[in-house]
Amino acid sequence: MKKIIALNWKMNPASIKEAKEISKIVSSSDVIIFPPFIYLGMSLGLKKAKLGAQDTFWENPPAGGAYTGEISSLMLKNIGVEYVIIGHSERRKWQNETDEIINKKIKLALKTGLKVILCVGESIQIRKKGLKSIKDFIKKQIQKDLQKVHSSLLKVQGSLTIAYEPIWAIGTGNFCKPEDALEIIKFIKNLSDSRVLYGGSVNSKNILNFLKYKEIDGVLVGGASIDKKELKSIIANLV
Ligand code: PGA
Repeated sequence: MKKIIALNWKMNPASIKEAKEISKIVSSSDVIIFPPFIYLGMSLGLKKAKLGAQDTFWENPPAGGAYTGEISSLMLKNIGVEYVIIGHSERRKWQNETDEIINKKIKLALKTGLKVILCVGESIQIRKKGLKSIKDFIKKQIQKDLQKVHSSLLKVQGSLTIAYEPIWAIGTGNFCKPEDALEIIKFIKNLSDSRVLYGGSVNSKNILNFLKYKEIDGVLVGGASIDKKELKSIIANLV
């Protein structure tokens, strides 16, 4: 199966002009690009790349409640978005997203027909305690995030992908040793029947060290995905 290359732009870039320039680089490659919401409805000029959102909400319109400022899975689906990232550690941190909220978002996104990339990963404090603690933490996170998600939704091919993103490796340049990532990814695959990606300081120089393992189904790239030079080299690595 083909490897998944997911590009998480986070809260970048500042203008649609720059967004289009970055898009031009990826338009010839089969990747998933996750721009901020505001650029999703605009024409970025993507050709083969697929479109994803960085988050979604746990209710669809017409909703029982009023949810100012939120964007729903149905809205995303209706503008042609195929994927959504749920549970990124930055949202867990800055938006105080709990596993309960993440679980609700996953259920509705899958029901709406979006493909979900669920992010999980341990803090540096847990990493320091050793492999058993990391595995215990990841197992609990996955159990809570996927609690009572109907098995029929998970059976749809490609509906759920899990990204192993150790928090201490995100945006730090301090990427997880590929063989350590492999160990955790194999563990996740034993828990859940889904594809598993690695994320955390992936760049043009280390990407192939992760992709070379058949168990690692792809990568989630943050910072390097909005650096044009880096992005060009990443794409060049893939063709
Ligand atoms: P990074 O981010 O590549 O900048 O470490 C990865 C992510 O947040 O998904």
